[in-house]
Amino acid sequence: MFSDADIAALYDVLNPWDTERRADSAHYTAMVMGARSVLDVGCGTGAMLHDARRRGHRGRLVGIDPDRAAMELARRRDDIEWVDGVAADVTAWREEFELATMTSNAFMCLITDDEVRASLSAIHGALEPGGRLAFETRHIQSEQWKEWHPGNAEEIVDGSGRRLRVSHVVESAVGGVVTMTETTGEADGTAERVDRGVLRFFDEPELREFLEEAGFAVEELYGDFAGGPVTPGSRVMVVVARAQTLAHR
Ligand SMILES: C[S@@+](CC[C@H](N)C(=O)[O-])C[C@H]1O[C@@H](n2cnc3c(N)ncnc32)[C@H](O)[C@@H]1O
Repeated sequence: MFSDADIAALYDVLNPWDTERRADSAHYTAMVMGARSVLDVGCGTGAMLHDARRRGHRGRLVGIDPDRAAMELARRRDDIEWVDGVAADVTAWREEFELATMTSNAFMCLITDDEVRASLSAIHGALEPGGRLAFETRHIQSEQWKEWHPGNAEEIVDGSGRRLRVSHVVESAVGGVVTMTETTGEADGTAERVDRGVLRFFDEPELREFLEEAGFAVEELYGDFAGGPVTPGSRVMVVVARAQTLAHR
């Protein structure tokens, strides 16, 4: 059977941090390399911060994530600070970071309104006045959960050369909150492991409202990583928001 460690390692096979081939990786890496101090919220296996150090980033890099198996992989580098926890736990830091990131849709793991508010408020407190939060989140109008069915299963090859199949089944999609299972198994479809997950899709007005309420001014909100507008067909919303000081709110 597949362990938590196997699944964490597979994440990097499925989602490599690749600034040459992926516009999202290039977008965030450019911002990270331009910031003295970076807090990566929902850092997963830490691939973005590992890459930043490899590129010669000399400032403070901190990653936080609640997934212990992913953090085991992140901790392979000990020249980065790693913290076990969720976004709402970020209250331990006060005005310490120039940039906070939530990459690869980590923002969609914030499910309830209370969790979104607590997380954004904590991140705001951790940012220097004028610091920026950069993230992307899938756009509710794209209804991408309709693409998550076994007919769209992905065939991959893991680190040991084994052929695997990863597929999804959506159990429910209510008001943007999507509950689904992810099945990882043999290439012939034999299931080795089933994980259940919940993701929240947002629309633009509610996203802006959450950000403004938490003290952020939205500086960029695009419908793709090329800087295009948000339209009903946009699959993501790519956001850069600046932490306002109280005087500016
Ligand atoms: C899709 S992964 C993205 C990982 C990484 N940012 C990347 O770019 O590959 C989403 C991550 O968010 C983490 N996560 C889940 N709930 C969270 C929360 N409330 N606060 C912060 N991170 C959370 C998960 O453990 C997972 O590692």
